[in-house]
Amino acid sequence: MTLRSCSLLFAILLATHPVSAQDIVAHRGASHTAPENTLAAFHLAWKQGADAIEGDFRLTKDGHIICVHDEDFKRTANLAKHVHTLSLAEVQRLDVGSWKGPKFKGEPVPTLDEVLAIIPKGKRLFLEIKCGPEIIPALKKSVLKPEQVVFISFGKDVITQCRQHFPDFKAHWLTSYKENTLGRMKPSRKDVFNTLAETKSSGLDTNANIDQVTAEFVKQLRQGGYEFHCWTVDDLALAKHFRQLKVDSITTNRPGWLRAQLAGEG
Ligand code: G3P
Ligand code: CA
Repeated sequence: MTLRSCSLLFAILLATHPVSAQDIVAHRGASHTAPENTLAAFHLAWKQGADAIEGDFRLTKDGHIICVHDEDFKRTANLAKHVHTLSLAEVQRLDVGSWKGPKFKGEPVPTLDEVLAIIPKGKRLFLEIKCGPEIIPALKKSVLKPEQVVFISFGKDVITQCRQHFPDFKAHWLTSYKENTLGRMKPSRKDVFNTLAETKSSGLDTNANIDQVTAEFVKQLRQGGYEFHCWTVDDLALAKHFRQLKVDSITTNRPGWLRAQLAGEG
């Protein structure tokens, strides 16, 4: 066999048997180690080899998009004020690193544009919209690329509007399985498919519930043309389970650790 045919065979093998078809997404950055939703956590995620980062985004009082999970800063900066009552300048004075450890003292709240600026070529941001569709005009002011940004949200109206305003972008609906007062797990499978259809979602992104997310359910999702992602998996056995279900991505607080563990499993 010539060197040329050998490389061709190798390329075909790689294409038909990808080494890892499933992306590892760093939840709020490498947030096990660094303060969530900060540039420190996102930089660390890239350093740890994450395929993508996940971050939570909200609007300030003066219409800027910033990266923060909760609706206030009580947990991360000891400030019980709602994000939408603060200006960008006020938010930028906060220290959202110290709560995680002295070495992160002074870590600021990043803007969406600052997060976008540090995404390496070929990597992606799972941009979770935590507020409502009022964020759409502000999103249009940022330079977003469909190969770089995937919208995710629990808000059905948010997903619907993302698909309308950004038709070239993926927008996956987030849901979390919970028991209702009658002891039934919600949402039902029927509700999930109805929502995916109504919102024109490109996929489902759900908490890693092994009872609800069965092989049959995943098959149905695939038949419907939907992507399937799950969060937040910091446990090897759970990650292996979802990998076997051929999930498109696994979101974890520990991207480097999880990749190493999965590689060790072959
Ligand atoms: O990736 C989705 C996941 O982040 C949703 O939950 O509460 O961590 O934003 P939460
Ligand atoms: Ca999130």
